[in-house]
Amino acid sequence: MKETQKFLVYRNSGEGIIRYEGYEVPLKPGYTILDALFYIQDHFDSTFAFRYSCRGAICGSCGITVDKIPDLACKTQISAVKTKRNPIGLPEFHFGEHPNWDKENEILIEPLPNMPVLKDLVVNMDNFWKFYVEVQPYFTRDYNDVAPESKQSPEEMNAIERLVYCIACGLCWACPVNATNPHYLGPMQLAKADRFLRDSRISDEHEKEILERVLKDDGVLACEKYFVCNRVCPRGVMPGTAINDIRKKMEERK
Ligand code: SF4
Ligand code: FES
Repeated sequence: MKETQKFLVYRNSGEGIIRYEGYEVPLKPGYTILDALFYIQDHFDSTFAFRYSCRGAICGSCGITVDKIPDLACKTQISAVKTKRNPIGLPEFHFGEHPNWDKENEILIEPLPNMPVLKDLVVNMDNFWKFYVEVQPYFTRDYNDVAPESKQSPEEMNAIERLVYCIACGLCWACPVNATNPHYLGPMQLAKADRFLRDSRISDEHEKEILERVLKDDGVLACEKYFVCNRVCPRGVMPGTAINDIRKKMEERK
């Protein structure tokens, strides 16, 4: 095992000043990218900003871009970055000029794509959450949903299980449609809609409301079937497949 690892890290003052800084971090077995971010903050620059919470790949807070691949910092082992099998066919993400990136030896750290940067690796997720709320991803007595005090059969659970695993990390917003259309609801939001549309506990009235929202021009119809979302999702949610499933559901109803 190497004793140290070099990093090239995107820094953004939050006032439009962008630069890339090099850091060298001592390695320990099992060290993750998140551990390295802490090391940089503790030993080089206490103003370095990034998000995290659970450190266990479940809260969805630590999404960043590692060597041009959106990923969770707490789930990514430093030792595996240069050798792991990466998703293929991703768009090129451009955050700023980094003319001196030594691809072989330096790990490039950048924020998530397609969201405005607030500071360093912290992005503004206002639209992500705004669109999330728009698909009404909850049960409510306002629509006479049966849940939450109700049973589900194993079959009913199977129908939503894959979609339930979403941790709202935002990696799937690496989608090229998100890059060009600021009104696009987004892969996660549409997958969340599919999760509730499939749920046996949702009322017809609520289902109709969700469908009306996701079938607008900036919802399902805006998806161009790149399936980048399927390839980068760390939880196997397959939002692109969920979007296709909503399309099929509508076709069947015609
Ligand atoms: S669908 Fe996957 S990539 Fe998108 S927010 Fe959920 S867990 Fe993250
Ligand atoms: S810190 Fe929670 S998912 Fe990484």
